[in-house]
Amino acid sequence: MKTTIKRIGIMTGGGDCPGLNPVIRAVTKTAINEHGWEVIGIRNGYKGLYDNDWVKLDSASTSGLLHKGGTMLYSSNKDNLFHYLVEENGEMVYKDVSDVGVENIKNLGIDVMFIIGGDGTLTSARDFARKGVNVIAIPKTIDNDLASTDTTFGFNTAVGVATEALDRLHTTAMSHHRIMVLEVMGRYAGWIALHAGIAGGADAILLPEIPYDIHKVAKKIEDRKAKGKNFSVIVVGEGAKPVDGEVVVREIIEDSPDPIRLGGIGLKVAHDLEKLCGNEARATILGHLQRGGSPSSSDRILSTRYGVAAVKLAVEGKFGNMVTLKGDQMSYDSLENVIGRKSKNVNPNGELVEMAKSIGIVFGD
Ligand code: F6P
Repeated sequence: MKTTIKRIGIMTGGGDCPGLNPVIRAVTKTAINEHGWEVIGIRNGYKGLYDNDWVKLDSASTSGLLHKGGTMLYSSNKDNLFHYLVEENGEMVYKDVSDVGVENIKNLGIDVMFIIGGDGTLTSARDFARKGVNVIAIPKTIDNDLASTDTTFGFNTAVGVATEALDRLHTTAMSHHRIMVLEVMGRYAGWIALHAGIAGGADAILLPEIPYDIHKVAKKIEDRKAKGKNFSVIVVGEGAKPVDGEVVVREIIEDSPDPIRLGGIGLKVAHDLEKLCGNEARATILGHLQRGGSPSSSDRILSTRYGVAAVKLAVEGKFGNMVTLKGDQMSYDSLENVIGRKSKNVNPNGELVEMAKSIGIVFGD
């Protein structure tokens, strides 16, 4: 593909995440202001690439976006053009239709595709790069579990929402002498649970990285009761599991690149603690509230940095790469390295966990 850039495409794939709109805004503004490029937004992720569903983006259409949650380009977290459900002779069959995507990119005169997404979306981004498309990838997930970058936008907002939920659960827990359990997202990584648990003053934090013994959590609750605190607040990452048990699966979405949806461990923890401690227990599953709505100020800045750094990579011709944040510097890594790398997990012996233990937070280990 030619590398003189006149027109770029941008799309969002996978689950939405606070900060997507600010990235779209940053890429579009930088592309237009600094380079005079035209910008095409592909709608609905890879589905839109297949359907040739696009919209022209300019300063007007991307203004007023900074504080808005979701993605103005819409998203899809199922569609993979390398394994896509199409109708053939009256039957629905999976086929590799990626050539249609490449053709549409060519026909639209797109010189570089900016693809914003998580694992699944970026795996396809790598595969399009292998087919010769000039791809610049931008990582996205509230879970903060991508190994190649230190922090993803959306994470700070999700932690903020979960922290506020904990503050609210504290007062109702205290009023009713209850155990309140908050289940947060994060898949197999406990970053949201750990950060929100510390910020929200949880009594116990249960992480996917530290299988828990429920009796140790119950002991913490009993110790608090002995000190006159007849209520407790617990945060549970959705991927947490007991030492002698398994993760709780909410749903299997067959045609998704990442079919397992976790959820429900909070209910189990509440039920088990009620039986062991005698206090009434309630569980709140925070769910998609963590992903919706306005990005925090820190995520607005971070997503703008990702967007501007992505354009810089394209100007330098560094295609097939993903923008990263390393320490306080924007950097990049090859999609070939990024995809398939083990996800980034909480270190059970790391400083944050040790610090939390020092102030009395229990992890059930
Ligand atoms: O990866 C982001 C995430 O929000 C996870 O934290 C969560 O497990 C999953 O996506 C939920 O996916 P869906 O939107 O398909 O329910």
